[in-house]
Amino acid sequence: MSLSFNVSVELKYGLKSLSFIKKVFWYNLLNYLIKTLGCQVNVCDSDKLDSAFSACGACKVDSLLDADVFVLNTCSVRMQSEQKTFSYLGRVEELKQQNLDMKVVVMGCVAERLGYDIKKRFKSVDLVIGTKDVDDSISKIMDLCYLKVSLKKIIPNVSPRSQIVSHITIMKGCNNYCSYCIVPFVRGVEKSFDYNTVINECSLVVKNGAREIILLGQNVSSYKHRNVDFSLLLKSVALIKNLKRIRFTTNHPKDLNDDLINVIATNPKTCPHVHLPMQSASNKILQSMNRRYTYEYYLALIEKLRVAVPDIEITTDIIVGFPGETDEDFECTLSAVKAIRFSGLYVFKYSPRPNTRAFEMSDNVSTIEKKRRHAIILKESNKISAEIALKMVGSNCQVLVEKIWNNFMEARTRNGRKVFLKINKEYFGKIINVVIKEAKVNSLFGDVIG
Ligand code: SAH
Ligand code: SF4
Ligand code: F3S
Repeated sequence: MSLSFNVSVELKYGLKSLSFIKKVFWYNLLNYLIKTLGCQVNVCDSDKLDSAFSACGACKVDSLLDADVFVLNTCSVRMQSEQKTFSYLGRVEELKQQNLDMKVVVMGCVAERLGYDIKKRFKSVDLVIGTKDVDDSISKIMDLCYLKVSLKKIIPNVSPRSQIVSHITIMKGCNNYCSYCIVPFVRGVEKSFDYNTVINECSLVVKNGAREIILLGQNVSSYKHRNVDFSLLLKSVALIKNLKRIRFTTNHPKDLNDDLINVIATNPKTCPHVHLPMQSASNKILQSMNRRYTYEYYLALIEKLRVAVPDIEITTDIIVGFPGETDEDFECTLSAVKAIRFSGLYVFKYSPRPNTRAFEMSDNVSTIEKKRRHAIILKESNKISAEIALKMVGSNCQVLVEKIWNNFMEARTRNGRKVFLKINKEYFGKIINVVIKEAKVNSLFGDVIG
């Protein structure tokens, strides 16, 4: 890089960034750190940004102290998620006093919601970018860092964390407007991505080593591009040579139809695992949440899935303490958890979010009561999950070896359970048979057969 170029860069960007510019142009050295909060949608965007930085030769670091650029990808779904963003930015504010050159970027859902207000509150922040267009956001971040990258050359969505499992976003936004949920406001209206683009991305990641693809969206079962619906998309992805497994998340119960159940039941690459958020089992609360199904409908759907796919594992999300949730409503949900026996669940304490319809309702379940209900559901769920896992001890199953750690391997069963095995690098990325030797709530331990 010529000095004159540097001088023009200095003139263009001002002397304030001089040592940052030196790092990029003279020493070819730029350390970056991306911290991702929230759901898989954010994880996917961060993966793409990560690929862009590494394509420019920048170096990923683990500590804020070593970072020249810090990108915080944020989540707004609950008050607590937003507070995490603010506490990170508080720490960064102090660090920036010692390292004036550090660039700080806030992206994702809090950035979309609060926009420029974040910059007003945290002086250390250089750039705030929303969720509208991830490629445009990445370009802006690259510009801030004086880096140049052709986004077309970036392999989309290849997770730098694992070569074997790759997440592919198939749609953005959500139109469901569940009354508690901020997602439609921070991620916009639902839009399914072009079918050919999705298939090309999937083929590309498989060519680059992926053996499992997880199709992502807030509500994948409502995917629709021209005349291709989600079932057809799944069948098309399954035709990709060398791809061994497909998963997808998340589903809205109202859109999970018979066609899709049939694909899960008959297509050998589609894994028997469905995340199907129930939220509540009280019809009064479901209606007030604008979920557009009853508990009876939900239960019938679970039964249909279990008849069609006997080895299916069903996981769910539950909210406790929604406005107006009485002891009786809560007992309905607890009984449903006991009756359905989910393989796993996430339980959340209701958190009022601005702009949502529930924000106008009285948040009348006390914090203590929300905590109590949360703990009861969690305890019950852990008990059930452990019982299901314990039953697997002694059984044989097929796993895909996803990761190699220092002295063990991490694999996953078709229905989504983690299995830890003794290390043998030959098995990386392969499907092998194992026998389950020991079970804990969230993981199994096994031995390779043969
Ligand atoms: N699109 C996904 C959900 C995304 S948000 C779906 O419908 O399945 C993930 C979970 O966060 C939701 O399923 C819900 O259980 C929880 N959640 C969303 N908004 C919330 C709020 N305001 N308070 C508490 N939990 C909430
Ligand atoms: Fe939120 Fe409901 Fe959309 Fe899920 S389906 S993202 S809970 S509005
Ligand atoms: Fe959070 Fe945004 Fe996902 S609000 S849950 S990161 S879509």
